[in-house]
Amino acid sequence: MGKRIGVLTSGGDAPGMNAAIRAVVRKAIHDGDEVFGIRYGYRGLAEGDIFQMAERDVSDLTARGGTMLYTARYPEFQDEEGRRLAIEQLKKHGIDSLVVIGGDGSYRGAASLAAEGIQTVGIPGTIDNDIPGTEYTIGFDTACNTALEAIDKIRDTATSHLRTFVIEVMGRNAGDIAVWTGIGSGAEQIIIPEAEFNMDEIVANIEEGQRRGKKHSIIILAEGVMEGHEFADKLYEYDDYHARVTVLGHVQRGGAPTARDRVLAAQFGFKAVELLHEGASGVCVGISGEKIISTDINEALQSKGHSHTSQVDLYNINSEISF
Ligand code: F6P
Repeated sequence: MGKRIGVLTSGGDAPGMNAAIRAVVRKAIHDGDEVFGIRYGYRGLAEGDIFQMAERDVSDLTARGGTMLYTARYPEFQDEEGRRLAIEQLKKHGIDSLVVIGGDGSYRGAASLAAEGIQTVGIPGTIDNDIPGTEYTIGFDTACNTALEAIDKIRDTATSHLRTFVIEVMGRNAGDIAVWTGIGSGAEQIIIPEAEFNMDEIVANIEEGQRRGKKHSIIILAEGVMEGHEFADKLYEYDDYHARVTVLGHVQRGGAPTARDRVLAAQFGFKAVELLHEGASGVCVGISGEKIISTDINEALQSKGHSHTSQVDLYNINSEISF
């Protein structure tokens, strides 16, 4: 007899979540399972916002940003009562296992359900790329490309006016989007939470750049360090540094996913269903060295940040090629 698998998206949405939902639904139905969509993440699970999904429900989905299952942040799920309601709904619908697509908060929810005997698998979906157990999360590549497009445009006007720009990108407490878009756009400075910065050095670098004939200065600032305007105020303390500020904000979360995110989502969704068939629970899927892997969620959550340190390597590369 096939399984009865629930699927939900939780936390901030990310481009490619839809492609992951599609892969879960299609792989499960292909293998003889029944699939149930749960709207609005854990909140919808506790409230019983659950419907059976057929293969055509996920047609024309891979190219769409956002999540067709909607999402919510639901801190109440950390309480016993929230989990009790969720388990009650799962039992009511005869759902024996759950695929959770989201970030580390979503993983914690999946781990606590696993501890209560519900079979769960997590799929890393967030633009921040800050989830342990994987080198890349669904949505990161698209967010970087969206941000890059905007930064390239800002660069045109920065050059025309010989201006300094501070561009704030998302990433919560991680500097991944900042590092990737900083290198990708040829930014003069990248400011991330993982590395210390010194205002004297930053100003000296801008001045040195001007001496070397640079026509602009682009500073990519990760939101986890401080707000763009705060940073510009600090620059203003040095005479003449009237930096313009652009906060890219939620535009980074939308849009059609890139090929990379669509493929990653398909691989993760496929692997999640395979893991459920193998009887795994309380695990999350990930990618490491181009291989699709799985890790115990609790182990992953105990490890620090994502499972590679290349962001700092990339940061160091930028400081040697951006003068
Ligand atoms: O986790 C994704 C993310 O976009 C972060 O980069 C950002 O800090 C946060 O979510 C914004 O959250 P909200 O959508 O609740 O404003």
